[in-house]
Amino acid sequence: MKYDVLIEKAIEAREAAYTPYSHFKVGAAVLTEDGSIYSGCNVENASFGATNCAERTAIFKAVSEGHRVIKAIAVIGDTKAYTYPCGICRQVMLEFAENKDIPVIIIKNKKEFITKTLDEIIPGSFTKKDLDQA
Ligand code: THU
Repeated sequence: MKYDVLIEKAIEAREAAYTPYSHFKVGAAVLTEDGSIYSGCNVENASFGATNCAERTAIFKAVSEGHRVIKAIAVIGDTKAYTYPCGICRQVMLEFAENKDIPVIIIKNKKEFITKTLDEIIPGSFTKKDLDQA
């Protein structure tokens, strides 16, 4: 399928997860406007609040390399169930998503995944547009 490589990159990225506290490894990958892919893992910290989720690691890597437009995102957790992105990551996705209909691919394994639009997982959202209209 169209997002095979994105899915593979998210699965690969999970291997680098730094999770001495939760032992819950997450991997993510984002597709940017020019077709390049950035991946990331969760990076935990002894001060738990300093932990960075996999999705945000991937997004921040893309943005810090000059890619501000995200066309798709894939994420995989560490259980037999599907791991949905946390609320903070959904908000960060909105900031850089090409539009609210980009696919968020929630992966169980290479062959089993669910595709939702960003709008489906964070409806009624607050974005830069709200501020621009103020
Ligand atoms: N985690 C992610 O990386 N992404 C999510 O969307 C959910 C949570 C990580 C953060 C922490 O390292 C571990 O999973 C347990 O919360």
